[in-house]
Amino acid sequence: MPRIVPPDDRPPEFPPEFVWGVSTAAYQIEGAATSDGRGPSIWDTFSHTPGRVANGDTGDVACDHYHRWVDDLDLIQALGVGAYRFSVSWSRWLPDGRGRVNRAGASFYDRLVDGLLERGVEPWLCLYHWDLPQALQDEGGWAERDVVDWFGDYAASVMGALGDRVAHVAMLNEPNVVGLMGHLLGIHAPGQTDLAAYAAATHHLNLATGSALSRLRSERSDWRLGTILNLQPVVAEGDGEDDAAASDLLDAAWNGNHLEPLVAGRYPAVMEALIGTAVRDGDMERIRQPLDWFGLNLYSQLRVAADPASLIGLRLVDPPDEAETTAMGWEVAPEALSRQLIDAKARLGDVPIVVTENGAAYRDRPGPDLEVDDLRRTRYLERHVREVEAARAAGVDVRGYFVWSLLDNFEWHEGYAKRFGLVFVDYATQRRVPKRSYRWYQRLVRDGVVPSSADVA
Ligand code: FCB
Repeated sequence: MPRIVPPDDRPPEFPPEFVWGVSTAAYQIEGAATSDGRGPSIWDTFSHTPGRVANGDTGDVACDHYHRWVDDLDLIQALGVGAYRFSVSWSRWLPDGRGRVNRAGASFYDRLVDGLLERGVEPWLCLYHWDLPQALQDEGGWAERDVVDWFGDYAASVMGALGDRVAHVAMLNEPNVVGLMGHLLGIHAPGQTDLAAYAAATHHLNLATGSALSRLRSERSDWRLGTILNLQPVVAEGDGEDDAAASDLLDAAWNGNHLEPLVAGRYPAVMEALIGTAVRDGDMERIRQPLDWFGLNLYSQLRVAADPASLIGLRLVDPPDEAETTAMGWEVAPEALSRQLIDAKARLGDVPIVVTENGAAYRDRPGPDLEVDDLRRTRYLERHVREVEAARAAGVDVRGYFVWSLLDNFEWHEGYAKRFGLVFVDYATQRRVPKRSYRWYQRLVRDGVVPSSADVA
């Protein structure tokens, strides 16, 4: 199809090969938690533990995508994007985490991949989006070194079955969040608040990433192997030396702990003493692996100040009163995206970068027909895509951009109240209604030119 040229003959701002996509994750949308032999994951356990998730919400039904995937793929096709990033539920594939493959579960992903290809949408498969099989947690989970082999075997099993049709595969989604929220702050599954578990999990997440990358690489050379980190610029509130130290520490824990081992084969200096306890000879060489692409998830930036009263000497600072924030309380800081992309290039060298998640939750009120006029989300996306353009103009090799998320879904410990979708989901009926942001994204993808949010109703 000929590309639509804007009236003033300006060239399209994104080239035709730029990958536009949408992202989801298994536990957040699939539901069918006990169907067809799926085993429990740590998120089933966590969400069923009273007090862990807002409103007592669980992923038992979620968007019921497991049964409604055909309609959902139609929504993706109508959106016009070239790629769909989804994750495989490890415990749907392997109910015990290892050993026996659950044929019914595996065939769901088989049909999903075929359905995408039939619609001209390229599957981007993420092997791990936080839902460790409970059976493996019972044996120590990410804090147990054997998890490295469990993950490698699972990765090889999935790609052995789907890798004839799936080329783009990501190892882990946001290991920093798994480590910090799951093992240190206890607000995500498995809900631990244990410094030793945090240190061990952090290292094993890295080792699992590196080991699986090299294992898959040795199996097939045409797979496009990557992994996904959530990187956020850290801003020091004060200008004292202690504020700078607090900022360095947070930057190391949030960003450096996973990026530096991957690209440089070492931990940030301030983390060595803590994480070094889990490191064995040869580990850092196993972690440092070439990547075909690097996935960056970015939503905001982090503000930090020194706080001698806190255990680790720092505290996160709320955005200033005048700052714009989303329903998550996250500061809207679009320029953080270009800044982070430029910084990521400096650290990664020539590895192509893909923005694998970006998006926003807002308290939008649906009208009587369930239409959602989500101008704020549309503005958020518009401003962030412009920053992608700015980073590309500055020489960063950004190859794609994926919106989080296709559908409103289960937002982890926040439950269903926080809605990130381009498509509204009425959980009572499972009706899907595309929002203004969906139509805006459709225009962007069609034209390769960023439309003004005000111009799309
Ligand atoms: C990211 C997660 C994703 C979603 C968004 C809002 O950190 O990867 O699952 O929850 O945040």
